[in-house]
Amino acid sequence: MDILMLSAKSIVFILPSYFANATPVVLGGGTPIDFNKKMWDKNRVFGRGKTIRGFFAGIFAAILVGSAQALALPGTWLDLYPGSPSHYVFAGTLLGLGTMVGDLAGSFVKRRQGMEQGKPSFLLDQLSFLLFALLFAYPVASQHIYPESAAFLALVTYFVHAGANILANKIGLKKVP
Ligand code: CTP
Ligand code: MG
Repeated sequence: MDILMLSAKSIVFILPSYFANATPVVLGGGTPIDFNKKMWDKNRVFGRGKTIRGFFAGIFAAILVGSAQALALPGTWLDLYPGSPSHYVFAGTLLGLGTMVGDLAGSFVKRRQGMEQGKPSFLLDQLSFLLFALLFAYPVASQHIYPESAAFLALVTYFVHAGANILANKIGLKKVP
C-alpha cells in the first residue's frame, strides 16, 4: 500500500473524532458537566466550557459519521473494515467517546494548571482528544492505529485544529481562536 492511500485511510478513520470535537461548539451549552464544582485548588473541575449536552452531542456526531461511513465506504478503495460495515459504527462510537473523555481530561489538566476556561493550550487542546480517541478505538481498529499513523494524525490534527479555530473565531462561534 502506498503512503497516499495510508494517509487517506488515516484521515477517513479519524473523521468521527474530528466531528465529535467540533460539534459541541455548535450544539453545546447548558449544565456544565462538573455542576460548577471546584477542586482543592479552588478552580473548577473542568470549567464552564465542558457541558453535558456538548459531551453527548459530540458522541452522537461521531456515531452519525461512523454510520455514514458504514453506508458509503464498503466496497470502495477507502473501505477500512472490509466485510464488516458494522465496524464503522463501533469505531465511530469509541472514537467519539474517547474524544470527549480526552477533551475533558485536557480541560481538567488546564484547570489544575490554573488556566482560565477558553485559554488555548497547544498540547492539551489538540492532542489529548486525539490520544484518547486512538486509545479508546484501539480494541476495534488496531489495524489503523500504529506509530506512523498516530504521528501523522497528530500533525494533521494540529493544523486542522488551528485552522478550524481561526475560522470559528472569524464567523463568531468562538471568542478565542
Ligand atoms: N463545549 C461544550 N461541551 C463540551 C465541550 C465543548 O459545550 N463537553 C462547547 C463550549 O461552549 C466550549 C466550546 O464548545 O466553550 C469550545 O470547546 P473547547 O475549546 O474544547 O473548550 P474551551 O471553552 O476552550 O474550554 P477549555 O479551556 O476547558 O478547553
Ligand atoms: Mg478551547
